[in-house]
Amino acid sequence: MNNITIVGAGTMGHSLAQVFAQGGYQIFLNDTSQGILIRAKSLIEANLETLAEAGLFDSKDNSTVVEERITYTTDLAAAVASSGLVIEAIVENPDAKKELFSKLDRLSPPETILASNTSYLDIYEFVETKRPEKVIITHWFAPPHIIPLVEIVPGPHTSPETVGIVKKILDDLGKQTIVLKKFLPGFIANRLQAALSLEVYHLLDNGYATPEDIDRATKASFGLRIPVLGLVKRVDFAGLDLVQHILRNKSYVPPKVKGRSDAIASMVSQGRLGVKTGKVFYDY
Ligand SMILES: NC(=O)c1ccc[n+]([C@@H]2O[C@H](COP(=O)([O-])OP(=O)(O)OC[C@H]3O[C@@H](n4cnc5c(N)ncnc54)[C@H](O)[C@@H]3O)[C@@H](O)[C@H]2O)c1
Repeated sequence: MNNITIVGAGTMGHSLAQVFAQGGYQIFLNDTSQGILIRAKSLIEANLETLAEAGLFDSKDNSTVVEERITYTTDLAAAVASSGLVIEAIVENPDAKKELFSKLDRLSPPETILASNTSYLDIYEFVETKRPEKVIITHWFAPPHIIPLVEIVPGPHTSPETVGIVKKILDDLGKQTIVLKKFLPGFIANRLQAALSLEVYHLLDNGYATPEDIDRATKASFGLRIPVLGLVKRVDFAGLDLVQHILRNKSYVPPKVKGRSDAIASMVSQGRLGVKTGKVFYDY
């Protein structure tokens, strides 16, 4: 497989194109407007510079070679005509993904594997193609050119051969791959993050602690252990007899999923939307 197509050149798509180009593939990067593609090109150039500054990429010899492997196009038919793998990283909307997969099924060669980078959607429920055995989820993490994990999530009709091909491509790129047994919303990593976030919002919403103290508690305690042990090995170290006592302790009640957080709503109403607005829980 020489040619790979990325559809959607936003936060994820531009970096996915870069990762595969760095791995030696010829890439077609597709989006709906030239402006977005021009921006994607400059983001890739900047990413490569940052990697070079960190000593992770030899820019002198390789930048031009990597950049020349990427063809930027708004023409979806041309983008997928010769690719063995297409990964979509378009908007997280079921109707948009459904429509795109039906186009990809029509426009790409029948043997092409069609992958989605969806974060939470069960695409297997709504995507219709004539090749369900070649449809698969590969869930990357931002920014894909830095974060190693890719969760591979086969659907009920995805063939073991498709899983094997995709896993080998990603492993050969140096990514850390996990194959889930079946779909569940949020896969592994986002579910764990979501569970932690529920507690963060609970602590903030009820005034138990300041943002600074929550972050200090995280960074000065279990945050240090996680990269070394993970979360399951930690249980081995804690001791399962102790864990059983903790499990039986009914005084701990996890927060309910409310679908909102007062702390987040208050920030949003003040226009404090994230680092991009300068002031949020912290000032930037
Ligand atoms: N941002 C993240 O941290 C992250 C992490 C993992 C997975 N994802 C998933 O990746 C996907 C993309 O997320 P993102 O954050 O890169 O979004 P984004 O909004 O930054 O980029 C999406 C891009 O897709 C383009 N697009 C929309 N419809 C299109 C179409 N029909 N054909 C071609 N291009 C189209 C848009 O113009 C835009 O440039 C989503 O499914 C998201 O859930 C995002």
